[in-house]
Amino acid sequence: MEFSTILFEKKGNYVIITLNRPEKLNALNFQLFTELNEAIENVELDREIKAVVLTGAGDKAFAAGADIKELNESDDITGIHFSQYGSRVMLRLEKLRKPVVAAVNGFALGGGCELAMACHIRFASENAKFGQPEVNLGIIPGYGATQRLPRLVGRAKALELILSGNMIDAYEAEKIGLVNKVFPHSELMQETIEFVELMLSKGTLAVSQALDCVLASDYLPLIEGLEYESRMFGKLCGTYDFKEGTSAFLEKRKPNFKGE
Ligand code: COA
Repeated sequence: MEFSTILFEKKGNYVIITLNRPEKLNALNFQLFTELNEAIENVELDREIKAVVLTGAGDKAFAAGADIKELNESDDITGIHFSQYGSRVMLRLEKLRKPVVAAVNGFALGGGCELAMACHIRFASENAKFGQPEVNLGIIPGYGATQRLPRLVGRAKALELILSGNMIDAYEAEKIGLVNKVFPHSELMQETIEFVELMLSKGTLAVSQALDCVLASDYLPLIEGLEYESRMFGKLCGTYDFKEGTSAFLEKRKPNFKGE
């Protein structure tokens, strides 16, 4: 697996994917999306990998958006493909049944903010900045911000950000619910990895099914969502991890989960 615009580092049962065009603030070009798509496929197929950390190379940016040089070549015929391709890669990432945690280490603008939103959890460093500056370029967000941002922060705040193109800092992003938690820059990766390790110490089947059920709440009406949750709950009651987890509690010992 040879990548030139991302790094793919497997660390036992999780992987760190790093957007790696620091000289262009990790702007998302076609090559990067293609490689990210391949990396996601690797994660889907590798049963050993149970979680993903996504971050950006360098100290300045997670990703400063779609590559504006490439974007500039688009017209009304090709623009839709430009948007659909990135959007599909991000949806594939979101639909991974393995938790994806973004470690946002700097600018997360436009497509960078949208990519962070396609992750399941977002941690940010104190110097991170978020925004959807597309209106400054005469376009609208094309990788999901008009859909995911209002779901995360509510319509009013989403409209404020998308219609103004304004940037907000990490603490403001935390306040409106765009970011889970803010850490000092030097501690971001360590804190992110500790959180991933905490999740992986649980029953990983349960973590994966819980993720799936929460994502289903985006498209299922409440009654169907509750039924879906009950079915998943029932399924998990038939697993080794369920017997182990409940028995360990009753026997006052630590569970030894197998992910089965
Ligand atoms: N696409 C392509 N290249 C980008 C980019 C993007 N989205 N964002 C930054 N770059 C490039 C710059 O062109 C520059 O390249 P160069 O050195 O070859 O000229 C390099 O990355 C560094 O960026 P620079 O603008 O010099 O850094 P800065 O610290 O002065 O400003 C930003 C940082 C993020 C405020 C600024 O780069 C910016 O506004 N980027 C665009 C953000 C955006 O509109 N994103 C949405 C795209 S749809």
